[in-house]
Amino acid sequence: MDIYKRLLNKETKLSLIGLGYVGLPIALEFAKHISVIGFDVSEERVALMKKNQDPSEELSPEDFENSDIQFTTDPEDLKDAAFHIVAVPTPIDSHNKPDLSPLIKASEAVGKILKKGDYVVYESTVYPGATEEDCIPVLEKFSGLKFKTDFKVGYSPERINPGDKVNTLATVVKIVSGCDDISLDNIAKTYELVVKAGVHRAPTMKVAEAAKVIENTQRDVNIALMNELSIIFNRMGINTFDVLEAAGTKWNFLKFYPGLVGGHCIGVDPYYLAYKAQEYRYHPQIINSGRMVNDSMGFYIAKQLVKNLIAKGKKILNSKVLVLGVTFKENVSDLRNSKVVDLVNELKDYGVTVEVADAYASSDEVKKYYGFELVNDIADDYNAVVVAVSHNEYLGYDEAFFKSITTKNGILVDVKGLYRKKIKELSYWSL
Ligand SMILES: NC(=O)c1ccc[n+]([C@@H]2O[C@H](COP(=O)([O-])OP(=O)(O)OC[C@H]3O[C@@H](n4cnc5c(N)ncnc54)[C@H](O)[C@@H]3O)[C@@H](O)[C@H]2O)c1
Repeated sequence: MDIYKRLLNKETKLSLIGLGYVGLPIALEFAKHISVIGFDVSEERVALMKKNQDPSEELSPEDFENSDIQFTTDPEDLKDAAFHIVAVPTPIDSHNKPDLSPLIKASEAVGKILKKGDYVVYESTVYPGATEEDCIPVLEKFSGLKFKTDFKVGYSPERINPGDKVNTLATVVKIVSGCDDISLDNIAKTYELVVKAGVHRAPTMKVAEAAKVIENTQRDVNIALMNELSIIFNRMGINTFDVLEAAGTKWNFLKFYPGLVGGHCIGVDPYYLAYKAQEYRYHPQIINSGRMVNDSMGFYIAKQLVKNLIAKGKKILNSKVLVLGVTFKENVSDLRNSKVVDLVNELKDYGVTVEVADAYASSDEVKKYYGFELVNDIADDYNAVVVAVSHNEYLGYDEAFFKSITTKNGILVDVKGLYRKKIKELSYWSL
């Protein structure tokens, strides 16, 4: 009997290795239909999940109800499953090089319990070739089994968007791939259980890996172009959002906006592709230029603010600035790779006193990762306010509010252009 039917009949289980933003929703969705083992190395996170709490704060306790799932930190428990999905992080190191260590460790853990007939599907974002060149040899080594003959492997990238309740696992077409026709069919049918929008069957694992990494690379490069335009238009005294609004009236003008590109996907994945391209003796120009522009925007915004403070006659060493928003994007608590931190640290390097508040982030987490605390009470003597993240809570702010918390000749830095056309008296700057 093929693996899909065995899963459906609950004769075997599906395991999820890595229960983060990606892994936990997949595990719970499958657990509505088949038996699931959710494995994670973090005792702390698994303890929360056992109490129906999502450590990533994306899912509610109701999402855990009526699920056939066992949460565990014991890799031995993975033995009871025959279909393993790996969704561990794929970060970069301090030199922007891919760090495959979580993926390799997860492959070792799966390799140790792998049986004949088992399936392993990778979901983590990687460069084309990582599954075959980096992961499968580890599975073979630790299992003593032979790829394709004894076990099958596939790759199915994840497209979820944290904080987005519309584009979810169930509603977005999922790319699937296998190592042969039979495995592709089984993997596709298994995912079709949970992805209502259906699956796209990619011809090879490399194609599926490449498709995922270019989705984010394309976004990164397009945003970089907007950021570069913003730097040019700032020198020309033109508001970029006004320009984009006008240009956007053409049917084929792409709607991208300038901003800080942080997080664990768009600001990271292009480095994976650029790294692998060099193995093929190609030095990417456009991808790396995009990364360079986007990575420097926090420093750029800080510099523009310092210039504005000087122009308003403020002494930089006595200046006090409030930054609203520190998470990597709006309406989430996720702090990973936040570029607002570059802005904060750069302002501090200039000697500015900076206070930071956020509607979602935990001050303890900010302290742990970035070494500073958040303020709860907003003062009324800031020389400038920077709205860095467009959390819903900030959208209703108006000029009267900003005036009430700033000193005479106050400055509003509106990174995302939220208050454009609404600020008449304060000094206004946006990307
Ligand atoms: N978050 C997103 O929006 C998103 C979207 C698409 C793709 N991705 C990709 O999906 C992958 C996972 O990302 P994420 O955001 O879910 O990461 P995450 O940091 O939220 O979660 C990863 C989980 O894996 C666990 N883990 C780490 N090493 C492990 C190991 N060896 N064995 C078992 N568990 C381990 C961690 O404890 C954590 O719970 C990454 O490759 C990422 O690029 C993420």
